[in-house]
Amino acid sequence: MWPNLAELAPAYVRSFNAYVPSLPDPELMRQYGVSSLVRLNNNENALGPPPAAMEAMQRFPPPQAAVYPSGDCFHLRQALAERFGKHPDQFLVGNGSMEVISSVLKAFCGPGDNIVTADKTFAMYEWVAEFSGLTARLAPLRDMAFDPEALLALADGRTKVFFLCNPNNPTGTWWDRTVMARFLDQVGGRALVVLDEAYCEYLEDPAFPDGMQLLDRYPNLVVFRTFSKMYGLAGLRIGYLCASPEVTGMVRRTHVVYSVNVLAQTLALAALGDDGEHIRATRDMVRESRAALVPALMRLGLPHVAGEGNFVMARVPVPDTLMYRRLMMRGFMVRTMTGFRFPNWIRITLVRPPVMEAFTVALAAALGEG
Ligand SMILES: Cc1ncc(COP(=O)(O)O)c(C=O)c1O
Repeated sequence: MWPNLAELAPAYVRSFNAYVPSLPDPELMRQYGVSSLVRLNNNENALGPPPAAMEAMQRFPPPQAAVYPSGDCFHLRQALAERFGKHPDQFLVGNGSMEVISSVLKAFCGPGDNIVTADKTFAMYEWVAEFSGLTARLAPLRDMAFDPEALLALADGRTKVFFLCNPNNPTGTWWDRTVMARFLDQVGGRALVVLDEAYCEYLEDPAFPDGMQLLDRYPNLVVFRTFSKMYGLAGLRIGYLCASPEVTGMVRRTHVVYSVNVLAQTLALAALGDDGEHIRATRDMVRESRAALVPALMRLGLPHVAGEGNFVMARVPVPDTLMYRRLMMRGFMVRTMTGFRFPNWIRITLVRPPVMEAFTVALAAALGEG
């Protein structure tokens, strides 16, 4: 007789509900009876990657797939170091920045430790902490933004990491230089501060703090960046952290080597070298798209939050899951926000303006249903 194998797993794993990702497009299209599907659920860049990355993809020699990549992204780290005026050893590249969350927690947290973040932010910080047996302490947002006092009030001697998301996904709110510096001063050296800047390239305001520059003043700071959003490489899964050599050196011990494939490394390197015009074009698209969507939400009488980043949140008068299904039947996929603790809200990725306009037509029809 086999014992119950689930019993072998720690209690904190057994009580954790696995994340269920969405089905592939062809399967969803079959289920919802539509011939096309526009994904507005993952904040991807509708313009794709920069041209040099597309060319690198076309030039990539297929036999190279048989060869292991650089185990620690040697060339990419050199390029990142040059770009940001750092040492290559300060960078650690992962299979998406999601992977490095786990590496940081494994390196710095043990049983009984906790992390502090907001209750309504990118949920992965909380989830990785929980399935790693750590406690996630969650501070409520204030006016839709991270609240520095509430975060600090939750910390104790077992707090190892604060997770900040600037600008915040999903509200698009952000801390300016003053608020950020004050918070970092208050934390001092008692914990790490992870500053997730997944959407930083969308911001143009000079008051927005650049985590890379703050690193020189705060050796406990860990900056996360990704190639999934502005750089249009979400499908290849590549993101990274930058921190003091001491912190990165510690995280490297718990990070799986060879987790970043050769195509991702090659395209990220090409994208980094060709981002000027791409960033300008993407910002223009997002600005125009927001300018098309927000008045439409107002006309439809939907409360909304349109901050920075390539997304907007709206509150709908029906359950978010019902609105999701109604929009899916019209060929648009949005993000339901109950999982982010925003019940009855949806998050919409800002894409090309004509697509956004077609979406607003679908949204009006979906609201008129029932
Ligand atoms: C705030 C934030 N951080 C990180 C990620 C994940 O990035 P990656 O694709 O590099 O794992 C996302 C993706 O949605 C995000 O919104």
